[in-house]
Amino acid sequence: MEMAKHTQLFFPLLLLSVFLVGSSMAATENVIRDNVLEWVKNDTHRFLNAVIRVGHLNRTVEFYKECFGMQLLIQKDFPEKKYSKAIVGFGPQESHFVLELIYIYGVEKYEVGTAWAHFGIAAQDIYPIVEKVRQLGGVVTREPGATAGGPQVYAFVQDPNGYTFELLQQGPTPQPLNHFQFEVIDLNRSVSFYEKALGMNLLLRYDSPQDQYTIAMVGYGTDRTQTVFIELKYNYNVTKYTAGNAYVHAAIGTSDVYKSAAAVALVTQELGGKIVRPPGPNPVTHTKTTSFLDPDGRKTVLVDNEDYLKEIKNNGQ
Ligand SMILES: *[C@@H]1O[C@H](CO)[C@@H](O)[C@H](O)[C@H]1NC(C)=O
Ligand SMILES: *[C@@H]1O[C@H](CO)[C@@H](O)[C@H](O)[C@H]1NC(C)=O
Ligand SMILES: *[C@@H]1O[C@H](CO)[C@@H](O)[C@H](O)[C@H]1NC(C)=O
Ligand SMILES: *[C@@H]1O[C@H](CO)[C@@H](O)[C@H](O)[C@H]1NC(C)=O
Repeated sequence: MEMAKHTQLFFPLLLLSVFLVGSSMAATENVIRDNVLEWVKNDTHRFLNAVIRVGHLNRTVEFYKECFGMQLLIQKDFPEKKYSKAIVGFGPQESHFVLELIYIYGVEKYEVGTAWAHFGIAAQDIYPIVEKVRQLGGVVTREPGATAGGPQVYAFVQDPNGYTFELLQQGPTPQPLNHFQFEVIDLNRSVSFYEKALGMNLLLRYDSPQDQYTIAMVGYGTDRTQTVFIELKYNYNVTKYTAGNAYVHAAIGTSDVYKSAAAVALVTQELGGKIVRPPGPNPVTHTKTTSFLDPDGRKTVLVDNEDYLKEIKNNGQ
Protein backbone atom coordinates (compact mmCIF):
# COMPACT_ATOMS: atom_id res chain seq x y z
CA MET A 1 0.00 0.00 0.00
CA GLU A 2 0.90 3.59 -0.41
CA MET A 3 1.58 4.06 3.31
CA ALA A 4 3.76 0.96 3.67
CA LYS A 5 5.84 1.94 0.67
CA HIS A 6 6.35 5.34 2.16
CA THR A 7 7.53 3.86 5.47
CA GLN A 8 9.88 1.52 3.69
CA LEU A 9 11.52 4.41 1.99
CA PHE A 10 11.38 6.68 5.00
CA PHE A 11 13.17 4.39 7.43
CA PRO A 12 16.45 4.06 5.50
CA LEU A 13 16.31 7.81 4.90
CA LEU A 14 15.85 8.38 8.62
CA LEU A 15 18.78 6.09 9.36
CA LEU A 16 20.88 7.89 6.82
CA SER A 17 20.03 11.31 8.24
CA VAL A 18 20.68 10.14 11.83
CA PHE A 19 24.02 8.86 10.62
CA LEU A 20 24.80 12.13 8.86
CA VAL A 21 23.82 14.30 11.83
CA GLY A 22 25.75 11.97 14.14
CA SER A 23 28.92 12.12 12.11
CA SER A 24 28.76 15.87 11.66
CA MET A 25 28.38 16.21 15.43
CA ALA A 26 31.44 14.03 15.90
CA ALA A 27 33.22 16.17 13.33
CA THR A 28 32.19 19.33 15.20
CA GLU A 29 33.47 17.85 18.45
CA ASN A 30 36.77 17.10 16.76
CA VAL A 31 37.00 20.66 15.48
CA ILE A 32 36.34 22.04 18.97
CA ARG A 33 38.84 19.61 20.42
CA ASP A 34 41.54 20.45 17.86
CA ASN A 35 40.84 24.16 18.29
CA VAL A 36 41.13 24.18 22.06
CA LEU A 37 44.31 22.09 21.97
CA GLU A 38 45.68 24.33 19.22
CA TRP A 39 44.71 27.37 21.30
CA VAL A 40 46.73 26.04 24.27
CA LYS A 41 49.88 26.28 22.15
CA ASN A 42 49.05 29.93 21.38
CA ASP A 43 48.21 30.85 24.96
CA THR A 44 50.46 33.20 26.95
CA HIS A 45 51.80 31.03 29.74
CA ARG A 46 54.21 31.91 32.50
CA PHE A 47 55.39 30.18 35.68
CA LEU A 48 54.07 32.40 38.49
CA ASN A 49 54.86 30.72 41.79
CA ALA A 50 55.26 27.52 43.76
CA VAL A 51 53.60 27.29 47.15
CA ILE A 52 55.22 25.38 50.01
CA ARG A 53 54.48 25.04 53.72
CA VAL A 54 57.24 25.82 56.19
CA GLY A 55 57.57 25.32 59.94
CA HIS A 56 59.46 28.55 60.67
CA LEU A 57 58.62 31.43 58.38
CA ASN A 58 61.19 34.03 59.40
CA ARG A 59 63.97 31.51 59.64
CA THR A 60 63.17 30.20 56.17
CA VAL A 61 62.99 33.71 54.70
CA GLU A 62 66.35 34.59 56.28
CA PHE A 63 67.87 31.36 55.00
CA TYR A 64 66.72 31.97 51.41
CA LYS A 65 67.89 35.59 51.58
CA GLU A 66 71.29 34.88 53.12
CA CYS A 67 72.14 31.68 51.25
CA PHE A 68 70.51 32.08 47.86
CA GLY A 69 70.27 35.85 47.55
CA MET A 70 66.47 35.94 47.25
CA GLN A 71 64.52 39.04 48.21
CA LEU A 72 61.55 39.17 50.57
CA LEU A 73 58.75 40.58 48.37
CA ILE A 74 55.75 40.37 50.71
CA GLN A 75 55.16 39.15 54.24
CA LYS A 76 51.64 39.09 55.65
CA ASP A 77 50.02 37.72 58.73
CA PHE A 78 46.40 36.49 58.80
CA PRO A 79 45.71 36.05 62.53
CA GLU A 80 41.99 35.38 62.06
CA LYS A 81 42.85 32.52 59.68
CA LYS A 82 45.85 31.47 61.80
CA TYR A 83 48.51 31.57 59.13
CA SER A 84 51.23 33.83 57.70
CA LYS A 85 52.74 33.94 54.28
CA ALA A 86 55.86 35.32 52.70
CA ILE A 87 56.71 35.66 49.03
CA VAL A 88 60.39 35.45 48.12
CA GLY A 89 62.17 35.48 44.80
CA PHE A 90 64.95 36.81 42.63
CA GLY A 91 62.85 39.69 41.31
CA PRO A 92 59.33 41.11 41.26
CA GLN A 93 56.32 38.85 40.89
CA GLU A 94 55.36 40.70 37.71
CA SER A 95 58.23 39.03 35.90
CA HIS A 96 59.72 36.31 38.10
CA PHE A 97 58.87 32.81 39.19
CA VAL A 98 58.70 33.13 42.99
CA LEU A 99 58.16 31.01 46.09
CA GLU A 100 55.19 31.51 48.36
CA LEU A 101 55.89 30.23 51.87
CA ILE A 102 52.96 29.39 54.13
CA TYR A 103 53.29 29.11 57.89
CA ILE A 104 50.26 27.64 59.68
CA TYR A 105 50.22 28.63 63.35
CA GLY A 106 51.57 25.90 65.56
CA VAL A 107 52.68 23.54 62.78
CA GLU A 108 56.45 23.29 62.84
CA LYS A 109 57.07 20.12 60.87
CA TYR A 110 55.96 18.79 57.48
CA GLU A 111 56.69 15.68 55.46
CA VAL A 112 58.26 16.59 52.13
CA GLY A 113 57.42 13.13 50.74
CA THR A 114 59.26 11.23 48.02
CA ALA A 115 57.26 12.41 44.99
CA TRP A 116 58.45 15.99 45.21
CA ALA A 117 62.20 16.21 44.60
CA HIS A 118 63.72 19.70 44.57
CA PHE A 119 63.83 23.30 43.41
CA GLY A 120 66.66 24.37 41.14
CA ILE A 121 68.61 27.59 41.46
CA ALA A 122 71.03 28.80 38.79
CA ALA A 123 73.99 30.92 39.92
CA GLN A 124 77.27 31.99 38.42
CA ASP A 125 79.27 30.74 41.42
CA ILE A 126 77.65 28.11 43.60
CA TYR A 127 80.63 27.49 45.92
CA PRO A 128 79.96 30.46 48.28
CA ILE A 129 76.26 29.50 48.37
CA VAL A 130 77.15 26.02 49.57
CA GLU A 131 79.39 27.51 52.28
CA LYS A 132 76.61 29.83 53.46
CA VAL A 133 74.17 26.91 53.61
CA ARG A 134 76.59 25.02 55.83
CA GLN A 135 77.10 28.05 58.12
CA LEU A 136 73.36 28.67 58.53
CA GLY A 137 72.37 25.16 59.50
CA GLY A 138 71.44 23.69 56.13
CA VAL A 139 72.72 20.32 54.95
CA VAL A 140 74.96 19.80 51.94
CA THR A 141 73.89 16.49 50.44
CA ARG A 142 76.17 16.71 47.41
CA GLU A 143 79.32 18.80 47.43
CA PRO A 144 79.75 21.20 44.50
CA GLY A 145 81.60 19.88 41.48
CA ALA A 146 81.11 18.30 38.11
CA THR A 147 80.36 14.67 37.45
CA ALA A 148 83.40 12.87 36.02
CA GLY A 149 83.63 13.88 32.39
CA GLY A 150 80.69 16.30 32.56
CA PRO A 151 80.94 20.09 32.29
CA GLN A 152 78.04 20.92 34.63
CA VAL A 153 79.09 22.04 38.12
CA TYR A 154 76.26 21.43 40.59
CA ALA A 155 75.47 20.72 44.24
CA PHE A 156 72.52 19.64 46.32
CA VAL A 157 71.62 21.28 49.62
CA GLN A 158 68.73 21.10 52.06
CA ASP A 159 67.12 23.99 53.89
CA PRO A 160 66.13 23.67 57.59
CA ASN A 161 62.63 22.48 56.54
CA GLY A 162 64.08 19.58 54.58
CA TYR A 163 63.41 21.04 51.13
CA THR A 164 66.15 20.14 48.67
CA PHE A 165 67.64 22.70 46.29
CA GLU A 166 69.81 21.84 43.33
CA LEU A 167 72.39 24.55 42.68
CA LEU A 168 73.49 24.83 39.07
CA GLN A 169 76.51 26.80 38.03
CA GLN A 170 75.82 28.65 34.77
CA GLY A 171 75.85 32.07 33.10
CA PRO A 172 73.37 34.81 33.99
CA THR A 173 69.65 34.11 33.61
CA PRO A 174 66.54 36.25 34.11
CA GLN A 175 65.03 33.37 36.15
CA PRO A 176 67.56 32.15 38.75
CA LEU A 177 64.78 30.07 40.39
CA ASN A 178 64.75 27.96 37.29
CA HIS A 179 63.10 24.61 37.89
CA PHE A 180 61.44 22.13 40.18
CA GLN A 181 61.59 18.38 39.97
CA PHE A 182 58.91 15.71 40.41
CA GLU A 183 59.15 11.96 40.27
CA VAL A 184 56.73 10.39 37.79
CA ILE A 185 55.60 6.85 37.15
CA ASP A 186 55.14 7.02 33.36
CA LEU A 187 57.46 9.58 31.82
CA ASN A 188 55.97 9.62 28.32
CA ARG A 189 52.49 10.07 29.71
CA SER A 190 53.67 12.99 31.86
CA VAL A 191 55.51 14.69 29.00
CA SER A 192 52.42 14.35 26.77
CA PHE A 193 50.24 15.72 29.53
CA TYR A 194 52.31 18.88 30.03
CA GLU A 195 52.70 19.38 26.28
CA LYS A 196 49.01 19.02 25.49
CA ALA A 197 47.33 20.44 28.60
CA LEU A 198 49.73 23.33 29.27
CA GLY A 199 51.40 23.91 25.90
CA MET A 200 54.90 23.17 27.21
CA ASN A 201 57.83 22.12 25.05
CA LEU A 202 60.14 19.20 25.67
CA LEU A 203 63.43 21.05 26.29
CA LEU A 204 65.69 18.09 27.01
CA ARG A 205 65.36 14.38 27.61
CA TYR A 206 68.13 12.07 28.72
CA ASP A 207 68.51 8.61 30.07
CA SER A 208 71.01 7.64 32.74
CA PRO A 209 71.10 3.82 32.82
CA GLN A 210 74.01 3.80 35.30
CA ASP A 211 71.90 5.78 37.78
CA GLN A 212 68.67 4.08 36.71
CA TYR A 213 66.61 7.10 35.75
CA THR A 214 65.32 9.09 32.79
CA ILE A 215 64.72 12.83 32.92
CA ALA A 216 62.54 15.05 30.75
CA MET A 217 62.52 18.83 31.09
CA VAL A 218 59.36 20.61 29.98
CA GLY A 219 58.67 24.34 29.90
CA TYR A 220 58.12 27.36 27.71
CA GLY A 221 60.50 28.75 25.12
CA THR A 222 63.41 26.66 23.93
CA ASP A 223 66.42 27.55 26.11
CA ARG A 224 66.32 25.91 29.52
CA THR A 225 69.14 28.12 30.84
CA GLN A 226 66.95 31.21 30.37
CA THR A 227 63.47 30.07 31.44
CA VAL A 228 61.66 28.12 34.13
CA PHE A 229 61.04 24.43 33.55
CA ILE A 230 59.65 21.35 35.25
CA GLU A 231 62.01 18.41 35.50
CA LEU A 232 60.09 15.13 35.32
CA LYS A 233 62.10 12.20 36.59
CA TYR A 234 61.35 8.55 36.05
CA ASN A 235 63.25 6.19 38.36
CA TYR A 236 63.48 2.73 36.84
CA ASN A 237 61.00 0.31 38.32
CA VAL A 238 59.65 2.70 40.95
CA THR A 239 55.87 2.76 40.83
CA LYS A 240 54.97 4.35 44.17
CA TYR A 241 55.84 7.62 45.89
CA THR A 242 54.59 9.39 48.98
CA ALA A 243 52.96 12.78 48.42
CA GLY A 244 53.91 14.35 51.76
CA ASN A 245 52.12 17.47 53.01
CA ALA A 246 54.78 20.16 52.55
CA TYR A 247 54.65 21.06 48.85
CA VAL A 248 51.28 22.53 47.85
CA HIS A 249 51.19 23.45 44.14
CA ALA A 250 52.68 25.49 41.34
CA ALA A 251 50.77 28.28 39.61
CA ILE A 252 50.98 29.07 35.90
CA GLY A 253 49.50 32.10 34.16
CA THR A 254 47.07 31.82 31.25
CA SER A 255 45.15 34.37 29.18
CA ASP A 256 41.89 32.44 29.63
CA VAL A 257 41.19 30.04 32.50
CA TYR A 258 37.96 28.81 30.87
CA LYS A 259 39.60 27.69 27.64
CA SER A 260 42.57 26.34 29.59
CA ALA A 261 40.25 24.27 31.78
CA ALA A 262 38.48 22.92 28.68
CA ALA A 263 41.83 21.81 27.29
CA VAL A 264 42.93 20.24 30.57
CA ALA A 265 39.59 18.40 30.84
CA LEU A 266 40.09 16.94 27.34
CA VAL A 267 43.65 15.86 28.09
CA THR A 268 42.68 14.23 31.41
CA GLN A 269 40.19 12.03 29.51
CA GLU A 270 43.08 10.66 27.49
CA LEU A 271 45.98 10.68 29.97
CA GLY A 272 44.49 10.81 33.48
CA GLY A 273 44.39 13.51 36.14
CA LYS A 274 41.35 15.65 36.95
CA ILE A 275 40.06 19.18 37.37
CA VAL A 276 39.73 19.91 41.09
CA ARG A 277 38.50 23.49 40.84
CA PRO A 278 36.35 24.49 37.88
CA PRO A 279 37.31 27.79 36.23
CA GLY A 280 35.88 30.93 37.80
CA PRO A 281 36.65 34.00 39.90
CA ASN A 282 37.69 33.81 43.54
CA PRO A 283 34.77 35.24 45.53
CA VAL A 284 37.05 37.53 47.54
CA THR A 285 39.89 38.56 45.24
CA HIS A 286 37.97 38.07 41.93
CA THR A 287 41.09 36.49 40.46
CA LYS A 288 40.01 33.86 37.94
CA THR A 289 41.63 30.45 38.44
CA THR A 290 41.15 26.78 37.79
CA SER A 291 43.13 23.93 39.26
CA PHE A 292 43.80 20.33 38.38
CA LEU A 293 45.80 17.25 39.27
CA ASP A 294 48.18 15.78 36.70
CA PRO A 295 48.25 11.99 36.07
CA ASP A 296 50.51 11.53 39.14
CA GLY A 297 48.18 13.58 41.35
CA ARG A 298 50.34 16.75 41.43
CA LYS A 299 48.39 19.98 41.66
CA THR A 300 48.72 22.94 39.30
CA VAL A 301 46.71 26.15 39.51
CA LEU A 302 46.10 28.15 36.35
CA VAL A 303 45.67 31.87 37.04
CA ASP A 304 44.37 34.60 34.74
CA ASN A 305 47.43 36.69 33.78
CA GLU A 306 45.73 40.09 34.12
CA ASP A 307 43.99 39.21 37.39
CA TYR A 308 47.34 38.08 38.80
CA LEU A 309 48.93 41.45 37.99
CA LYS A 310 45.97 43.28 39.57
CA GLU A 311 46.26 41.17 42.70
CA ILE A 312 49.98 41.99 43.02
CA LYS A 313 49.18 45.71 42.73
CA ASN A 314 46.47 45.48 45.40
CA ASN A 315 48.77 43.58 47.75
CA GLY A 316 51.43 46.21 47.31
CA GLN A 317 49.10 48.98 48.50
C1 LIG B 1 47.16 30.26 16.85
O1 LIG B 1 48.02 31.28 16.37
C2 LIG B 1 48.19 31.26 14.96
C3 LIG B 1 49.27 32.29 14.62
O2 LIG B 1 49.04 33.50 15.29
C4 LIG B 1 46.83 31.55 14.31
O3 LIG B 1 46.98 31.52 12.91
C5 LIG B 1 45.83 30.51 14.75
O4 LIG B 1 44.54 30.81 14.25
C6 LIG B 1 45.76 30.41 16.25
N1 LIG B 1 44.94 29.27 16.61
C7 LIG B 1 44.01 29.31 17.58
C8 LIG B 1 43.23 28.08 17.77
O5 LIG B 1 43.83 30.27 18.30
C1 LIG C 1 58.98 37.71 61.58
O1 LIG C 1 59.31 38.80 60.74
C2 LIG C 1 58.31 39.81 60.70
C3 LIG C 1 58.67 40.79 59.58
O2 LIG C 1 60.03 41.06 59.56
C4 LIG C 1 58.20 40.43 62.08
O3 LIG C 1 57.21 41.43 62.07
C5 LIG C 1 57.85 39.35 63.08
O4 LIG C 1 57.85 39.86 64.37
C6 LIG C 1 58.80 38.19 63.01
N1 LIG C 1 58.28 37.08 63.81
C7 LIG C 1 59.02 36.40 64.66
C8 LIG C 1 58.35 35.28 65.36
O5 LIG C 1 60.20 36.64 64.83
C1 LIG D 1 58.82 7.22 25.27
O1 LIG D 1 59.27 8.28 24.46
C2 LIG D 1 60.58 8.08 23.95
C3 LIG D 1 61.04 9.38 23.27
O2 LIG D 1 60.02 9.94 22.51
C4 LIG D 1 60.56 6.88 23.00
O3 LIG D 1 61.85 6.65 22.49
C5 LIG D 1 60.10 5.66 23.80
O4 LIG D 1 59.95 4.55 22.96
C6 LIG D 1 58.78 5.90 24.50
N1 LIG D 1 58.52 4.82 25.40
C7 LIG D 1 57.35 4.22 25.46
C8 LIG D 1 57.23 3.13 26.47
O5 LIG D 1 56.41 4.52 24.73
C1 LIG E 1 63.63 -2.04 35.51
O1 LIG E 1 63.33 -1.12 34.45
C2 LIG E 1 64.14 -1.25 33.32
C3 LIG E 1 63.86 -0.10 32.37
O2 LIG E 1 62.61 0.45 32.53
C4 LIG E 1 63.88 -2.63 32.70
O3 LIG E 1 64.66 -2.79 31.56
C5 LIG E 1 64.22 -3.71 33.75
O4 LIG E 1 63.86 -4.97 33.24
C6 LIG E 1 63.47 -3.48 35.05
N1 LIG E 1 63.99 -4.38 36.08
C7 LIG E 1 63.21 -5.01 36.93
C8 LIG E 1 63.92 -5.85 37.96
O5 LIG E 1 62.00 -4.95 36.90
